[in-house]
Amino acid sequence: MDSIIKSWSGEEVIIGHDKPTGAWILIAIHSTRLGPATGGTRMKPYPDFKAALQDVLRLSEAMTHKFAVPGISRGGGKAVISLTAPIEAGERLDLLRRYGSLVRQLGGLYCTGPDLGTSSSDMDIIAETGSPYVFGRTPGAGGAGDSGPITALGVFAGMEVLCERLFGDSSLRNRRILVQGAGSVGGTLMDLLHRAGAEVLFSDVDESVICRLRDEKGFSCVPAESVYGTECDIFSPCALGGIINAVTIAQLKCKAVAGGANNQLARPEDGELLSKRGILYAPDYVINAGGAIGIPGIEALGWTRERAEKEVTGSIRSALMRILDMSESEGITTDLAAHRLAEERLASRR
Ligand code: PHE
Repeated sequence: MDSIIKSWSGEEVIIGHDKPTGAWILIAIHSTRLGPATGGTRMKPYPDFKAALQDVLRLSEAMTHKFAVPGISRGGGKAVISLTAPIEAGERLDLLRRYGSLVRQLGGLYCTGPDLGTSSSDMDIIAETGSPYVFGRTPGAGGAGDSGPITALGVFAGMEVLCERLFGDSSLRNRRILVQGAGSVGGTLMDLLHRAGAEVLFSDVDESVICRLRDEKGFSCVPAESVYGTECDIFSPCALGGIINAVTIAQLKCKAVAGGANNQLARPEDGELLSKRGILYAPDYVINAGGAIGIPGIEALGWTRERAEKEVTGSIRSALMRILDMSESEGITTDLAAHRLAEERLASRR
């Protein structure tokens, strides 16, 4: 376990054991160089403590890069609440309140928001004890709401940039896009794509979601076993991380990968494998930064929703274009180009 932390480049890890539920609370402060460590709270069961620790460390590092690339004055952090046993709704709320107290105790070192397994209503509960360090509360509670829709908008803007590069036309009309995961980001993204005239394909693990999207919206469902081998223009991972790996890359029949999920590449070398197969990769933390830029922008900087959407789409477009240029001119992968850009920004503030 100690080697995992030693080989991590971050600043601090706070570990709490929630006695009443047995859940582990892990808060990783990767970098505060550009500002307070900020990142969502992910809540789910993990196979073991080590897996939860690995996830939070990697996710917090991605947050540092996410803010550094567009030049936002925030640092990278992330929290994982690893559930070790099923909990009832009431117990879950108490756990969130205890977690909120921990966030408040940190006194602004770490600011949180929604992520996989937590919602805006959960942020309302966490804010009861964790305010003012909680972003993404419901509009009823004075927050900017779910981060999914504005994240989807940023991913969509990134896709337009890719289409411009690949086809000389930024429009998504008649492009075939396969969205993996119809959650808060994937769901909105599909609507945006549909409105733009794209052919929308999707996959999800939830049978009721599949039926609704197929029957009500007319989107075509791809069975889980053929997701990676389905021919499309853009494959968009919007569910779990680590799904771009040696096995799936060999199956991919897409021209580009661009999605909302965090940590899509299983290993850094997978960026190289994608590029060898001629697949253009939009680095995940570059195009999925919409929630992390937009929600704190509205809540802490007083942006209107309209301004937030402009800032998000504008900064993601220009960052991605720069990364694609850098990748072409220097003959490096887009993943490496994004890394360099983030490191440059971090170094300039040292
Ligand atoms: N979960 C978001 C992400 O991974 C982080 C976030 C959302 C942070 C909303 C603050 C507010 O980018």
